Amino acid sequence: RVTMTEAELYTLYKGIYLPSALHPPESLRFYEDFTFRPDDILIATYPKSGTTWMQEIVPLIMSGGDPASVETLPNWDRVPWLEENRAYTLNLDQRPSPRTFSTHYKYDMLPRSFFETKPKVIYVMRNPKDVFTSAFHYFGTTSFLVKPGPQSEFLHKFLDGQVMFGSWFDHVKSWLNAEEKDRIMYISYEELFMDLKDSVARIAKFLEKPLEAEAVEKIADRCLFKNMKQNNMSNYSLVPAEYMDQTKSEFLRKGIAGDWKNQLTEAEAERFDAVYKEKMKDVTYKFVWD
Ligand code: A3P
Repeated sequence: RVTMTEAELYTLYKGIYLPSALHPPESLRFYEDFTFRPDDILIATYPKSGTTWMQEIVPLIMSGGDPASVETLPNWDRVPWLEENRAYTLNLDQRPSPRTFSTHYKYDMLPRSFFETKPKVIYVMRNPKDVFTSAFHYFGTTSFLVKPGPQSEFLHKFLDGQVMFGSWFDHVKSWLNAEEKDRIMYISYEELFMDLKDSVARIAKFLEKPLEAEAVEKIADRCLFKNMKQNNMSNYSLVPAEYMDQTKSEFLRKGIAGDWKNQLTEAEAERFDAVYKEKMKDVTYKFVWD
């Protein structure tokens, strides 16, 4: 097999890096031309913020808790990323409503149809220090991402947005400044972590899918880290080791809030905080981690 150079691994698209292997020009064009339906549900995240978790929660909610909703298709086909090369092979226009999709795009990168149709969005955010920590471990496991290198170097790249899907700060700010606020639910990884049952109930309410307390409980239980790890359709065990080597670090790695404390040095955490303070100075949203 051919090993790609660092420069070949990423494509610069609208000013941000995307892994070339997953996002050939055809897939980016497919998304640009994609037609949303008003009842579509879009899960939007910066990578490593809880995408896979939400790809488990939403199908379970929409099916009223039916386990088949997360046991039939792997998460990437169940709630496909619209910018990924698989999207145009899945006959998405033939899927029954309501369809559920994922995206790692910033708000301003979404296609025209999104702004015309205004589907519902669940935007999942996570403490960026934990996003960094998760990414640091994850990037090293794949063949399609530039290796993180030493932690100090990766920190520099992360804070500078020189990683896949660009700057965490720009991503979060773009979504917080979105116009269709009543169509967007903002929720954090930390809220899911602290109270999964309450989070499931709130998400169900946002999706206008009434659920009995018993169903909420069942769904929350299924979506616990330890239970999701057992689901081969969600734990990435179906990905061949040449693309993702989980002997280096599992995709469902630790599943906790605050792991950055075990990862960053004091000086690195301080540097992170300084950049955070500067980049987020105009943001009024109250994050759980602040
Ligand atoms: P860690 O590497 O910190 O463990 P994404 O799906 O956006 O790539 O995010 C992956 C992160 O979400 C990983 O974080 C993963 O373990 C965590 N995650 C996935 N499912 C989870 C769950 N049910 N509970 C807690 N964390 C979960």
